[in-house]
Formats: sequence, structure tokens, C-alpha cells
Amino acid sequence: MPTKHTSRRGFVAGTLGALGLSSLGKAAIAAEPTPPAMEGPFYPAPAMRRPDIDNDLVRIIGMVEEAGGEVFTLRGRVLDRDGAPLGGRRIEIWQCDMNGKYMHPGDRQAIAFDSGFQGFGHDITGPDGSYSFRTIKPVTYPGRTPHIHVKLFEGDREVLTSQFYIAGHPANDRDRLYNRMSEAEARAVSMVFAQTDSGEEAVVDVVI
Ligand SMILES: [Fe+2]
Repeated sequence: MPTKHTSRRGFVAGTLGALGLSSLGKAAIAAEPTPPAMEGPFYPAPAMRRPDIDNDLVRIIGMVEEAGGEVFTLRGRVLDRDGAPLGGRRIEIWQCDMNGKYMHPGDRQAIAFDSGFQGFGHDITGPDGSYSFRTIKPVTYPGRTPHIHVKLFEGDREVLTSQFYIAGHPANDRDRLYNRMSEAEARAVSMVFAQTDSGEEAVVDVVI
């Protein structure tokens, strides 16, 4: 039905135009590659981690107490640049606790680390590339805007180290690392929180 076809094309063109993408070619519609970012000084070596390193950072197995902070679900998919899902990949996150303390001896702040917070966790992507974590919203850390560190592996090989940010956080504009990114790069690593039936969540795809 030519009429329907035309209107659909018109709709797509209009939507892309509204997004400011009309002058970009088809390849540019593919997802923005996740920009790399420095690892930072507080990546926990295996000996520094809790015995529990699963994808629920809010609850440590065997403990009654849960982490303090604003809990949410971080999820998304790991994709290649053509949008194909990358299953079976190890993805790690680590971040400071609700008081801005890292689970790392190099963090010299005189604050006790939240004993209910796992600080580090990993997931293995599903066949559709999906990953998920239950964790807390990141908070400001001296000199940094809130962020969650992310690492992606291909077997034992690290293929990406990056950081996720809170979309629209007022401290982003003062953050040295955040400001190194283009707008498109920043969007690719920004968490937008949405309320769902199972609580708040943010969806961030990782594209390599
Ligand atoms: Fe950090």
C-alpha cells in the first residue's frame, strides 16, 4: 500500500529531523560506541572484593542488612556497532557507597565503608546481550560527579573500561572526565531513571 509506505517514511524522516539527524547517513543511526574512560584508582583487585560478587550489589549473600542508598536496577544490552547482541560477555561494575567511600585501601577518607554494600559486582550477558545489576544511585565523590565504573571482557581480555553518569546531574558540567566527552558520547553513558513496577531503573546499552 503505497500511501501507508509514504506516510511511514514521512514519519521516520520527521522523527529523525526532530532529533537533528536528518543530514546524517544510515550508518550514523547505529548506536553510538560507548566512549572509554579511565579506570581510576579504586578498581578492586580480587582480594579486595567481597566473597559475593554477583549482580546484586545491594545485598550480600548471608547478610541481613542491605546497602544504604537509593536502589535501582541498571540494565541494558551489550552490542556490536551493527547492533548485534554480544552474549556470554562478562561485565563488571564498581562504585562508591552512599557516603562516597570506595571499597579500596587507597581511599583514605575517614569514613567506614557501608558493610551492606557489595561495591563491586559482575554479570554475564544473556544470548540477547542483556545484563542487569541491582545497585544504588551513585553519589558525588570528592572531585567527581556521580558515576558508576564499568568494565567489559571478551574472555579474559578487557575490551572496554567506561563510566556511567546520571543524566542532567548538576555536577556533570564541572566534572573533568565528563566534559571530555562529546554530547553524543555523554548521552551514550548517561542513566535516565524511570519508575517501573519493580522500582526505578535505568537502561544503558554498551556498544563496542
Ligand atoms: Fe570513581
